Amino acid sequence: MKKIVIAIDGYSSCGKSTLALQLAQELDYIFVDSGAMYRAITLYFLQHQINVEDPIQVNKALEQIHLKFVYDSIQKKSFIHLNNTNVEQKIREKIINDNVSIVAANKAVREFAIAQQQLMGDEKGIVMDGRDIGTTVFPNAELKIFVTADVDVRTERRYKELQEKGIASTKEEVKQNLQQRDFIDSNRDFSPLKQADDAVVLDNSRITKQEQFKLVLDWANKKING
Ligand code: DC
Repeated sequence: MKKIVIAIDGYSSCGKSTLALQLAQELDYIFVDSGAMYRAITLYFLQHQINVEDPIQVNKALEQIHLKFVYDSIQKKSFIHLNNTNVEQKIREKIINDNVSIVAANKAVREFAIAQQQLMGDEKGIVMDGRDIGTTVFPNAELKIFVTADVDVRTERRYKELQEKGIASTKEEVKQNLQQRDFIDSNRDFSPLKQADDAVVLDNSRITKQEQFKLVLDWANKKING
């Protein structure tokens, strides 16, 4: 069966990673959450007090960073390891949310992450979600999806997720963080968040996860069989 590359981009907290994972599991493809890479780099920068404005410090730090996705066959998903430590939980903390967009806007950081992401797609059979997957990482992806949803719907979803994890924050804080990240991600100079010209738009504000999955699986199957 023909294998394709599926790029899923869009705003923060649109459910891109959940959708990408579901799709990868169904198609038996590799799933890569590219945001986890920027989050892990941010964690390293915070742990080592790296000044993102200082190119020498940034380049030195990047030389010390080794990122790897390790597959867990029980949970049927991969978890990101930073220098051989599973940091999946740590990278979801508020301090990372508050700093990641600034780190991800750095050119050297992006070049570092993008080069690794492109290697992962060499064999195709991959679903990657992020902000610039269809535009920069895989401009030739067979299927590009741009996910969007109303900011209030996204805030509500993210707020619920944080509550379930026992992470304290107010709805207003969550909304502000989403809007701030979207603004920085969309307005950075290098590889900004942008809909690829050939992407299909998926607004999931008013559809269920099941409806969304059915729709997207249908798009994927058409590309695989077409
Ligand atoms: O998908 P996420 O919320 O985990 O991503 C975290 C941040 O990383 C996001 O605010 C922007 C950045 N990011 C990026 O710049 N490019 C990507 N391909 C993925 C994420």
